[in-house]
Formats: sequence, structure tokens, C-alpha cells
Amino acid sequence: MSNKATLEINGNTHELPIIAGTENEYALDIKSLRSDTGGYITLDAGYKNTGSCESEITFLDGEKGILRYRGYSIEELAEKASFLEVAYLLIFGELPTNKQLERFHSDIRKQSLVDDDVKKIVDAYPRFAHPMGVLSSLTSALTAFNPSSVNVDSEEDMYNAIVKILGKFPVLVAWTMRKKQGLPLGYGDNTLGYVDNLLKMMFEKPNEEFVHNKIIIEALNKLLILHADHEQNCSTSTVRIVGSSHAGLFASLSAGISALWGPLHGGANQAVLEMLEDIKADGGDTKKYMAKAKDKDDPFRLMGFGHRVYKNFDPRAKIIKKSADEVLGDLGVEDPILEIAKSLEQEALSDPYFVKRKLYPNVDFYSGIIYRAMGIPTDMFTVMFALGRLPGWIAQWREMRLRKEPIGRPRQLYIGKTHRPFKSIDKR
Ligand code: ACO
Repeated sequence: MSNKATLEINGNTHELPIIAGTENEYALDIKSLRSDTGGYITLDAGYKNTGSCESEITFLDGEKGILRYRGYSIEELAEKASFLEVAYLLIFGELPTNKQLERFHSDIRKQSLVDDDVKKIVDAYPRFAHPMGVLSSLTSALTAFNPSSVNVDSEEDMYNAIVKILGKFPVLVAWTMRKKQGLPLGYGDNTLGYVDNLLKMMFEKPNEEFVHNKIIIEALNKLLILHADHEQNCSTSTVRIVGSSHAGLFASLSAGISALWGPLHGGANQAVLEMLEDIKADGGDTKKYMAKAKDKDDPFRLMGFGHRVYKNFDPRAKIIKKSADEVLGDLGVEDPILEIAKSLEQEALSDPYFVKRKLYPNVDFYSGIIYRAMGIPTDMFTVMFALGRLPGWIAQWREMRLRKEPIGRPRQLYIGKTHRPFKSIDKR
């Protein structure tokens, strides 16, 4: 097979090197296209055909429904690993030994205090502020409280920044939720596991003992793992591009949180629940909403269905669907919302419109239901997603900096007015 592609423009041929990945994927290297062709660029709105980097972190095959972190299948990791093991794997490339994991967790614990003055910032937000906006700005504020910049040539510096954010982020997540609920802002219990501690920080009440529930801890562990990375999606690309200007880790992560907020990305899990609530309030007629989703004159889309990359099925949705059944069964939750979700799923899976367009339930379809059963408010769902995605963002940021990637700066094709003379205001 040739390792070059030939491009012909106005009778001139140009050779483009073909680069192969490790999973039989191929890319045309267009690095010198513009200079070689006298100004031609490629145009690819939404970047559906554009690779922004070479990466060793996550492999996914949307057609086959495959997702692997550093070569390990998502099914195996969700079944057998802890969230922190997966975080270590994503960031440093290998599964940790017991000793490495213990050190990693201990270093994270040491960083789990957030400057008490940050509480003043939390207090200044109105109760109705959206938690994603609060989380994004608190993450950015951490930069002010931890001003030392990361020397990417120092492994130690990189490591310290990473354990710092992994230690402080769950505290910010818990404070974001508790502020809205009028609960006191405290700190966790460093004798607990990472996920158990997070749940305690979120749900502990000052006047009652916190009850640890193994099924909920396991389900949340799984959910966080499933969300931990997804290669060059919108928020991850944002983190990489912000970091490419050598902005700090926390600032890059804060931008990633904002990107995740949108309903076409991480905000979809909140949008799913709101949609299910609307359907319930409207009498629970799922067929009516199926018809709306298919009507081209109606902007309504079935939230939680379809995926930019998975055009077969979302492997994470399968794992999470099982978890949803377990959590609801254990908690004895009989939720009409779940019944509506199941009806929509059944109808969509056999509906020619959805089948033809390969629109399957995605990970957000079920995650919202589990979060709801756990007692997490709807507007906190995307915050939970952000916590899960944190190791992926860190891993991608670290890789980008270690590979010394250039600043991200796309081109454009200008289609506006050509040069014209200025008209003074009295002549317009
Ligand atoms: N409901 C109804 N129709 C849909 C839906 C949907 N949820 N999703 C796509 N379609 C239709 C489109 O109208 C289009 O139809 P057409 O070919 O007749 O014009 C066709 O399917 C393809 O849609 P695109 O928007 O081109 O697909 P794309 O891959 O660009 O978008 C996306 C993927 C944004 C996820 C889309 O499916 C969507 O809006 N889904 C709902 C929101 C959602 O669940 N987002 C979560 C994504 S997962 C995540 O971020 C973790």
C-alpha cells in the first residue's frame, strides 16, 4: 500500500504523506498543503474528517461500538477497575501497581483541602446560578489560589499539578451542590475511598449520620469510569487548544467545563431528564414525542439519542443500562420517568427513522436516571460528568504539552465583503 496520496489542483500534483495509526486508521498529512499549493486549505466545519493530533490515550471505533483506554476495553475497566486506577492509567499510560496506586491516592488526599477563602466566592453566587457555570469559574479561581505555573519539563511539577486538581475538584463539586441546597460547606474524610468520600461530601447532613451504600458507590465508580475519556470531543479539544497557548492546567480545565456544559455535549444528560419530565407532565404519550422528533418542521430532538461518533451503538450505554436497573432495584425506586425512558428506547430501536439514521441511546440516556435515583439534582448531572471526564482532560492536556504541540490556530475561508471605502455616518 502506498504511503502517499496525490492531490491535483489546476493541473499541478501534490503528494501528501499517509500516516498510519496502530488500529488500521489512516490520515493524510496536510501540514505543508498551504505552502506547497500556494494557499489552499481544507474546509471541514465541525471537524468530522479532521484529526487535530496523534494520541496514545483512547481508541474508539464508532462503527463497531469499541471504546478502549490505553488498549483496555471499557467493558473490562468498568467491571474490574476503580476510578482512580483508570485515572492513573489514562494519565500515565499504564495500570498502577498497588504501591503506585497507594502513593497516587495518598498524594491526592494531601491536596484535598481547598483554601477556605474559596467559600467566600461560592457564597457570592446566587442560589439559582447553574452549577456548571459555578464549577467552571471555581476551577479557574483555583489558579489564583495556586499560582505557581507548571514546568512541563519537570515530571514532578506535572505530577503535583495533577494530584492537586484531582484532590480539590471533588470538594468544588460538593460545594457547588451544597450551596444550592443551603447546606454547610465542609471537607471530606480522607480515610475513605475517592468515590465514597465524594458521596459523603455531597450528601452528609450536619444532623444525621451519613450512610454508605455499596451499590451506589459501585454504580458511581462505573459512571465516572465510563465518562473518563472519549478522545477528541468538544470539551477535550477545548482543553487541548486552550492548553496549547500554554495557559495553565486549571484554566484549560475551566474552559473544558464550559464546553461540556452545552446540551449537544455533556449537558445532554440534564436535557434527557428535563425531556422525560416534560413528557410525563404532558400525559406520558411517548408516541407523540417520537412523532415530534421525526418532524422536520419541529426543532424537537430526542435527547440522549444519536452520537457524533457512535453510529452503531454506544458501548457505554449498554453497561450503564445494567447499572440503572441495579441501582433502581436496590433503592426500590419505582420511577415513572424510567418507564417513559424504556418506552422511548423500545420505540426508537424499531422505528425506521431512527434505525436508518443509526440513532441509538447514548451514555447520557441512562446516566441521568441513575443520578436522579441517587438523589443528585438534575442541574448537577453535567457536573458529575465533568468529574468523570477530569482524568481524560488531564491526560490529554499532559500528552499535548509533553509532545510540545504547537498552538492551535485553525484557518478560515473568508466569505465576507471585499474591500470597500468607509462612509461617514451622515451618508449611510
Ligand atoms: N432526534 C431526532 N433526530 C435526530 C437526532 C435526535 N436525537 N439526532 C440526530 N437526528 C437526525 C438529524 O435530524 C439528521 O436527520 P437528517 O439526516 O434527516 O437531516 C440525522 O439524524 C443526522 O443528524 P446530525 O445532527 O447530522 O448528526 P450529528 O452526528 O452531527 O449529531 C448529535 C450528533 C449532536 C449527538 C445529535 O444526534 C443530537 O443532537 N442528539 C441529541 C443530543 C444528545 O443526546 N447529545 C449527547 C451526545 S453524547 C455526549 O456528548 C456524551
